[in-house]
Amino acid sequence: MTELVDTALERIHSSANLADLEAVRVDVLGRKGVLAQLSKDMGKLTSEERVQRGKFINAAKQSLEGAYDALKAKFESEALAARLDAEWLDLTVPAPGPKRGALHPVTLIQWEIEDLFRSMGFSVLDGPEVETEHHNFDALNIPPDHPARDMQDTFWLEGHHLLRTHTSPVQVRGMEKLGPPLKMIAPGRVFRNESVDASHEHTFYQLEGMMIDKDVSVGNLIYFMKTLLTAIFHREVTVRLRPGFFPFVEPGFELDIRCLICGGPGCPVCKQSGWVELLPCGLVNPHVLRSSGIDPKEWNGFAFGLGLTRLVMMRYAIDDIRWLQSGDLRFLGQFA
Ligand code: DAH
Repeated sequence: MTELVDTALERIHSSANLADLEAVRVDVLGRKGVLAQLSKDMGKLTSEERVQRGKFINAAKQSLEGAYDALKAKFESEALAARLDAEWLDLTVPAPGPKRGALHPVTLIQWEIEDLFRSMGFSVLDGPEVETEHHNFDALNIPPDHPARDMQDTFWLEGHHLLRTHTSPVQVRGMEKLGPPLKMIAPGRVFRNESVDASHEHTFYQLEGMMIDKDVSVGNLIYFMKTLLTAIFHREVTVRLRPGFFPFVEPGFELDIRCLICGGPGCPVCKQSGWVELLPCGLVNPHVLRSSGIDPKEWNGFAFGLGLTRLVMMRYAIDDIRWLQSGDLRFLGQFA
């Protein structure tokens, strides 16, 4: 009998894991197990022997169950430790947080210029991208048969509508809506039907400006243009003023800046000239004032049409205009 119990104890101790142990439990402590066998022939024993046997069985039961419980507890705590190890989570690691986007470089510069002009008392106006022929051309002193229409390759739409080729029609809308005196700028998207290369896009941005008051001079114009360029480039830039023809200004000027990409020797952005046309401007042609119901004997003014896209390229040394509309996150992410 003692041998039977010893073998059972040995089996319990030699189980390697919980599953083993469970199998042993059935064999040893179960209904047909060792203990059950020990009590099987109790009926044939004398009462004296039965007391002996009972004591033996109780002692065996205690030692077997004790061994089983101890081993079971050991396996269970090992399993728990292994699980805690595997499922460990470091709650002190900072969360990655949402990925932040970036403003488009055109938006960045546009907002900067808007802030500057607002601080000088200008209104910021918006106009439609689908324009009438009247606002885009006629009211700006560009009649249908005028050669100046060919300067801008136009996307025509139905019924004398078009995709605006410049932001100048917003001058007309500003004069119509607000009248003189007027200080306004109008940033926006414009469209030209031309082939795309490093310095030409069919879609780009301009920023129009206009000031109408009494006795506005070329001196006023130059002052505002210099203020604008200094604020944008945060440094002195070399500029030159040439006569320029635009039907809506008289006199008209081309304000060029030294190419900030190559600094002068020539590159694709400045078309190898060392200069970039940035700021055509002039004094508002009396015809334009009159078309919008303003008396040119009483009022005059200046206007300018800043190439916003080109300016952004200068400011950030972007050598190909196509990046701006590419939607390429490697490019856009640099402005975060
Ligand atoms: N609208 C002209 C263009 O897109 C640019 C321009 C020239 C605007 C002279 C002006 C200006 O306001 O005075 O080519």
